[in-house]
Amino acid sequence: MWGGRFAGGPAAIMRRINASIDFDRRLHAEDIAGSKAHCAMLVAQRILTAEDGAAIIRGLEQIQAEIDAGDFLFREELEDIHLNIEARLAELIGPAAGRLHTARSRNDQVATDFKLWVRGTIDRIDGAMAALQAALLDQAEAHAATVMPGFTHLQTAQPVTFGHHLMAYVEMVGRDRGRLGDCRRRLNDCPLGAAALAGTAFPIDRDTTAAALGFDRPAANSLDAVSDRDFAVEFLAAAALAGTHLSRFAEEIVVWSSEPFGFIKLSDAFTTGSSIMPQKRNPDAAELVRAKTGRLDGSLVALLTVMKGLPLAYQKDMQEDKIPVFEAADALELCLAACEGMVRDMRPQIARLREAATRGYSTATDLADWLVRELGLPFRQAHHVTGAIVKRAETLGLDLAALPLVELQAIEPTITKAVYDALDIDRSVASRNSYGGTAPDRVRAAIAAARKRYCR
Ligand code: ARG
Repeated sequence: MWGGRFAGGPAAIMRRINASIDFDRRLHAEDIAGSKAHCAMLVAQRILTAEDGAAIIRGLEQIQAEIDAGDFLFREELEDIHLNIEARLAELIGPAAGRLHTARSRNDQVATDFKLWVRGTIDRIDGAMAALQAALLDQAEAHAATVMPGFTHLQTAQPVTFGHHLMAYVEMVGRDRGRLGDCRRRLNDCPLGAAALAGTAFPIDRDTTAAALGFDRPAANSLDAVSDRDFAVEFLAAAALAGTHLSRFAEEIVVWSSEPFGFIKLSDAFTTGSSIMPQKRNPDAAELVRAKTGRLDGSLVALLTVMKGLPLAYQKDMQEDKIPVFEAADALELCLAACEGMVRDMRPQIARLREAATRGYSTATDLADWLVRELGLPFRQAHHVTGAIVKRAETLGLDLAALPLVELQAIEPTITKAVYDALDIDRSVASRNSYGGTAPDRVRAAIAAARKRYCR
């Protein structure tokens, strides 16, 4: 491509370090779409003849067909996807192929291709996130009244419902979708026409190419257009945080499905056995989701580090932008699909969850609240009295609800037997009906609201 200036060829190692075709071939559809839009604009602006334009479009379409059919030969010596396609175009249509690159550089070309790819990937991931939310909503609905222990510090805190717990993840995924949406909105101006870095002397029409490729507008500054990779960093940041959410969920699945917890069961579809211990059923998918967040975080740091300190405008360093983005996108899509699958697969063990919810003096706060409400004690005093009751229950090896009234009255004489209502775990969760609370009716209302918001 630059034979005019060069006499010798590159060293083998130069060719290897320079080539990106191994990974940027994934941009082929976007590259061809960008070239078609550019070509049509060049014809409309009379920079290219209609005949040359038609030949170029036909050639590009044939190349796309060849790639789709697996017949296209990607060549390392042609460095990247742009030069591979251009070289094939020349084979197919002859010298007219050389006119396609008028008023364009690989710098604005690759920025455009990459934005299109990230945009398409955001849309696909948004769909996968919506599917995960739908699975969570279905399970939450089925278990809106299934009580389980709620934890802080992984110590039993207060009873909650399984549905309420799952709905927390619907919120997290909702924010993840919002972050990707923000990224998509900011991403959507078109670098094409910025050329190498300074714009072009040809009378191009950047509004037309931007619109043809689904962008909101052309990017305003040619230097920025070819050197901006914010969209990739933002995508990776959103992906990393989404991965953090998924890893927290995966960790809960690992804990819940463990023998000592026994809160959920996963079927054969989402577990593996052990080659030595016949009784084992391992939650490998959840463990791998938990682990893949490492790749997502690593990808974000990798690209931030590549971009740090780069002067304007394009630098070859930026060719390294695609590897982390492809890797993160693949990992995130896999994790989302695995999580959706596990949510649909998991069977909450209702009796075991209930049993666990009654342990650990989970209704101690309800008792303290009752002392405030019914006996008029200041909360701090009620807290103290309840602490003494829990201590006594511990000594006797009893749950709160099993403590005889005389034991309660020995600590606080004005307690009546009506207190036992407050110690019932179903009443406990039903009483927490403040907005956003765990009461089954609240959870059902939250599910209905989330379906409206997220499932269209
Ligand atoms: N393969 C290159 C990349 O991914 C395309 C842009 C090359 N531009 C250049 N001036 N060498 O960044």
